[in-house]
Amino acid sequence: MVPAPDFHLHGSDIFIGNLPTIFSQWLEGKEYSKVVVLTDQNTQRDCLPLMAPCLPELAKIITIPAGEQHKSLQTCDYIWNGFLEHHLDRKALLINLGGGVVGDMGGFCAAVWKRGIDFIQVPTTLLAMTDAAIGGKTGVDYQGVKNIIGAFNAPAAVLVDPLFLQTLPERELLSGLAEVLKHGFIGDPELLEIVTKSHPTKWEHSDWTTILHKSIAVKVKVVDQDPFEKGLRALLNFGHSIGHALESYFLTTNSPITHGEAIAIGMICESPKTSRKRVADLIQAFFPKVAIPESAFPEIWQYMQQDKKNSSGAVLMAVPDEYPLSVKLIPVTETQLHETLRGYNV
Ligand code: GLY
Repeated sequence: MVPAPDFHLHGSDIFIGNLPTIFSQWLEGKEYSKVVVLTDQNTQRDCLPLMAPCLPELAKIITIPAGEQHKSLQTCDYIWNGFLEHHLDRKALLINLGGGVVGDMGGFCAAVWKRGIDFIQVPTTLLAMTDAAIGGKTGVDYQGVKNIIGAFNAPAAVLVDPLFLQTLPERELLSGLAEVLKHGFIGDPELLEIVTKSHPTKWEHSDWTTILHKSIAVKVKVVDQDPFEKGLRALLNFGHSIGHALESYFLTTNSPITHGEAIAIGMICESPKTSRKRVADLIQAFFPKVAIPESAFPEIWQYMQQDKKNSSGAVLMAVPDEYPLSVKLIPVTETQLHETLRGYNV
């Protein structure tokens, strides 16, 4: 019997628990013509063995190189080639076993393959479990700009198994924690308290099922009200206007920073002045400060101009408004950005 999902969101059932059990039960009675698993080199090595026992015997594997630099149309081309080689028809199922890159790109490839095939997300990073895999955003980076080509495409299911967190290096776990903190700031003070008290930078230190459940609950509540980001969903972008730009900038240097590290700085910089100190104190208990070279400010501004939230030439930042779960879009100028970054660097 299929277990009851923890959440249901616009056609996607979201489960938190033991992956082999949930997946086997979920697949029962479904008549997919073929099952293909998309992994990257890391998840093929570390995560596929956990999933393999519950996969159909004839499941095919497509493996892509790991890393944000491979979130590109070239990699999509490689994936579609794999679909062609394995003769995927419209009744095939794609399983995205990986972090945000695998999930976003696999979801995008599935959206347009023969005008859409079913896919499920099996997120293996904290970032993907709490954010990227939930809510149907799929896509790739283009010309150095993050997620600028993509489509809304809801997965048939999201299967979240906290056990995968054991496979993550500490820096990767922390990266996801930034999105958990974001969900706390925008909608759940108790979540902030739990995270602050348990300081979960290691797998063993925390009740991940509770943290994941509370964090996903905030995301589900927002996306449920605004699946196509016409208004409230922009709240989930808190920290991301400056954060994405920083992430893109640091990707071009010899010391790239993780998505979470970038978003952590973004949340501090985008916080209203009245709450900035509280946000900074909380974040800096987890994330060390990163020096942002003043010479890079104009380039960071260039990246911000590509943000999808911008409208009629104005660069817009999404900041929490009235608590909980309301958003305000605030226009920002290049001079204001420079001032804010300078203030962060102090
Ligand atoms: N990660 C932001 C969103 O899903 O809208």
